[in-house]
Amino acid sequence: IILFELFSRRVITHENYRCFNQRRRRPRHERCNPCGRQNCLRKRHDRYRINRGYQGLIDDDVRELNIRSVSDIIHRGGTMLYSARCLAFKEESGMQQAIATCKKHGIEGIVVIGGDGSFRGARDLSLRGIPCIGIPGTIDNDIVSTDYTIGYDTCLNTIMQMVDRIRDTVESHGRCMVVEVMGNKCGDLTLNAGIAVGATAIVIPEIRSDIEQHVINRIRRTQKTDKKHFIIMVAEGIGGVEELARKIEKECGVESRAVILGHVQRGGSPTVRDRVVASQMGYKAVQLLMQGIGNRVIVLKDDHIIDYDIYEALNMQKKVDNELYKIAHEISI
Ligand code: F6P
Repeated sequence: IILFELFSRRVITHENYRCFNQRRRRPRHERCNPCGRQNCLRKRHDRYRINRGYQGLIDDDVRELNIRSVSDIIHRGGTMLYSARCLAFKEESGMQQAIATCKKHGIEGIVVIGGDGSFRGARDLSLRGIPCIGIPGTIDNDIVSTDYTIGYDTCLNTIMQMVDRIRDTVESHGRCMVVEVMGNKCGDLTLNAGIAVGATAIVIPEIRSDIEQHVINRIRRTQKTDKKHFIIMVAEGIGGVEELARKIEKECGVESRAVILGHVQRGGSPTVRDRVVASQMGYKAVQLLMQGIGNRVIVLKDDHIIDYDIYEALNMQKKVDNELYKIAHEISI
């Protein structure tokens, strides 16, 4: 969400993006011939913002943008485009209303920023003749096709800062803090932030064991080295932090508290990594649309920005980083 603006900014302010054509008809679902591409590049194109995602498309909440519409927002959290969950778009009637809005404004290409649900919508629109390009945007890093989602790094840094603050109390009072990390069903935020804050134990949905016993064993092991305070990071997909804190207090004899970080994780000024990756992805998305290509999703794979067919992207399997989990386990004593 944070990076919607960054993307828009690039679309509008970079000279090349002037070619983003939402009015001129071009071949869809296939590459134009080189002459066609040259032609697109020479044309001046109109750009629009669609507020509240698919809901805005259904409601015709569409505004034309000018070259300065997104000035001075690159450093801001939140979103100028707003966000909404749209059930109506899953129905054919909703989809047809959205297509009617596109026709009304002469929209011939859309960049959709979101998760797998948004990409399914983008695929369905592409199938119905409106080329769409997906850009992965969520704090959760749970989109199967990409190593990285926009917003993830900002969120990681927020978690780290929050837990660093929590550590002050934990250390001074000799306590255990069980921290629940938002991240839907994905453990990436918890695992990476857990390493960054030196957690004694990390619990994520991808690696299930006897959770309580695992955490208690790790605290007991650390107590033997004379450590008196502990941070336990638990993914939202596991939950139960209050209960776990009570259990730790009883079994390990250390005063324990639970804290749920929640929506604080979703705000704040984007980090450098998020700003740069968002710009790269936005650039690539517009390049594809200018070539008349739709039904693709932009991803970061092995440090390269590439694109996949949306069907292909949606059918990939996400794997947990077992090596990183092992490292976390080894180094936290
Ligand atoms: O997908 C982002 C996310 O923040 C998840 O981490 C979380 O599970 C969910 O959204 C929370 O959604 P809501 O704000 O609707 O409760």
